[in-house]
Amino acid sequence: MTLLREAPRLVQAQPLLRMERVHKRYGDVVALEDVSAEVYPGEVLGIVGESGSGKSTLLRMMNLEDLPDAGHYRLDLPGVPEDLFTLDGYARRMLRAHHIGIVYQNPHLGLLMKNSSSGNVAERLLIAGERRFAVLRDKARDALAASEFPLDRMDAPPVELSGGMQQRVQLAKAIALEPAVLLLDEPTTGLDVSVQALVLDTLKRLQRERRITMVIVSHDLGVIRTMADRVIVMRRGLVVEAGLVDQVFQDPQAAYTQALVHAKL
Ligand SMILES: Nc1ncnc2c1ncn2[C@@H]1O[C@H](COP(=O)(O)OP(=O)(O)O)[C@@H](O)[C@H]1O
Ligand SMILES: [Mg+2]
Repeated sequence: MTLLREAPRLVQAQPLLRMERVHKRYGDVVALEDVSAEVYPGEVLGIVGESGSGKSTLLRMMNLEDLPDAGHYRLDLPGVPEDLFTLDGYARRMLRAHHIGIVYQNPHLGLLMKNSSSGNVAERLLIAGERRFAVLRDKARDALAASEFPLDRMDAPPVELSGGMQQRVQLAKAIALEPAVLLLDEPTTGLDVSVQALVLDTLKRLQRERRITMVIVSHDLGVIRTMADRVIVMRRGLVVEAGLVDQVFQDPQAAYTQALVHAKL
């Protein structure tokens, strides 16, 4: 098991995503302090930590929505410049449109709640330059189907859908362009436990079938354990522990991780 989980790193020496020494303050609050993270092609990196530990801030940096005070960010893709934090706003938006997908905990951050669900997915394709109506419609339908969204509801606006269905629309939008990396910020937090399990099943199936590289943030160890190959544990903007999920949860080294794991048992 452990060997299998290590396989991506052994086979692929080069990380797909590399963040180095990222610092971010909001006024007096240090949201990220010297955070580094790497994600290898096809692997799922989990980020866990209590509320306020900096998880969402780190994901916003990975999504190039926000810039750090210091640090470097590289995606190992053809034609992509060396340090993404040095790009201007337009270049960052284009890079995001073509290579990065994101699902937020709050669907209002990711969707236009009163537009149709298929329209929300199509909008993503429009931003990336697709203009042919039939192609937009087909690709939106394919992405919704892959996200296990009921296609007879594709014209319904998210505002009329359940929380689980709204997350499926966000997921369809995020994967419509087959991004190099899929970022998930507490994608199932707040959903009923049974709905949460179904959405996690969809994510696992997508990961298995498409080998999508993912970064998943959760304060819930169960979600990280189910989804991730490796994990970084954050506290107050610092990475306190990092390693393979099995190792970190079975034999946590940092006192903070030990407390997190034992609180869950
Ligand atoms: N836009 C912002 N303005 C001010 N403070 C922020 C902002 N975003 C995050 N913070 C602060 O940074 C810290 C980390 O927040 P966040 O990344 O949202 O944590 P998490 O996702 O782990 O709960 C918190 O103290 C939070 O209040
Ligand atoms: Mg958060």
